[in-house]
Amino acid sequence: MTNRWKLGSRPVRLAGMDIDPDFQPLETERLILRRSRPEDAEAISTYRSDPEVNRHQGWERTDADGIRDEIKVMAARTPGEPGGWVQLSLLEREDGSLVGDVGFTHADGEPGVIKIGYTVAPVFQGVGYASEAVAAIVAYAFERLGATVVRAYASAENIASIRVAEKAGMRLMERFEHHSDGETWHGVRYEVRRDGASSS
Ligand SMILES: CC(C)(COP(=O)(O)OP(=O)(O)OC[C@H]1O[C@@H](n2cnc3c(N)ncnc32)[C@H](O)[C@@H]1OP(=O)(O)O)[C@@H](O)C(=O)NCCC(=O)NCCS
Repeated sequence: MTNRWKLGSRPVRLAGMDIDPDFQPLETERLILRRSRPEDAEAISTYRSDPEVNRHQGWERTDADGIRDEIKVMAARTPGEPGGWVQLSLLEREDGSLVGDVGFTHADGEPGVIKIGYTVAPVFQGVGYASEAVAAIVAYAFERLGATVVRAYASAENIASIRVAEKAGMRLMERFEHHSDGETWHGVRYEVRRDGASSS
């Protein structure tokens, strides 16, 4: 059943989604997903600056100051509110190490559709952390935000990202090309629906 988050006595739904003003960190078997804080910027900058990590990504800035500024902007948003990304940092439950981040945002003009993105630092890759975190975000989007569709975009060459999406129940919806500065980018769109039906 979908929870309806309430301000006063009325559920608040914006652009087909509930908002979650009382966000509580999500817990998985090995991770805590809490909202990113400015002090996370150095650790996030270290892995986002790695050419292997940002090869398929469109981050404008990967320096700590730029990331800190983005985190401050995102921290002011309420999860589920339209208008931009909300980011969670992934911390190991065992010792609090920051291993990566996940973000989510509304898809413009598509009520009920949420887009997600995810990154895990190289030293922590390959042990299932992204799969664990993305499963938690998908469940959160459906159960707390009342989303109807969760979507991920990836480079068609990004096998790891595609595998993470598949393991979260997403299916390939579209292959597309994006042309920019004389370069062609081959992308894929993956989605999972709350009702389990196929979408197009
Ligand atoms: C994509 C990414 C988040 C995966 O993180 P991760 O924690 O290593 O992923 P997991 O350990 O949960 O692995 C998920 C699946 O991908 C597979 N996988 C991971 N890395 C892989 C690689 N380099 N090549 C092929 N498969 C890979 C794993 O084997 C696993 O599948 P399996 O369970 O069937 O064996 C990580 O590689 C990353 O941050 N990449 C750079 C940023 C990025 O591209 N983000 C995605 C765009 S939204």
